[in-house]
Amino acid sequence: MTKLTYIAFDGTRFDVEAENGSTVMENAIRNSVPGIEAECGGACACATCHVYVDDAWTDAVGEPEAMEEDMLDFAFDVRPTSRLSCQIRVRDELDGLVVSIPERQG
Ligand code: FES
Repeated sequence: MTKLTYIAFDGTRFDVEAENGSTVMENAIRNSVPGIEAECGGACACATCHVYVDDAWTDAVGEPEAMEEDMLDFAFDVRPTSRLSCQIRVRDELDGLVVSIPERQG
């Protein structure tokens, strides 16, 4: 199991255990983390699973692919560390990953 931490917009921390191979979005939904809507169910087609990757984790998480980059244009308050959480797959190297939830989606 890999530990993930979500920081909600109001500062509340959610520490969860995630299975490798699942996505950061799926674990947010499973653990009722507020602020992740994931309307398209993880198909990279809605941008309502937008998160900010903590600065310490951007290298480990890596860059978005072209399709995700295009979709991020539809997200609210996009920053250099923005990612769509349905496109981040949980793996051992991400143990301890911290992501923050934006003020709103879309
Ligand atoms: S859940 Fe729709 S883009 Fe991530």
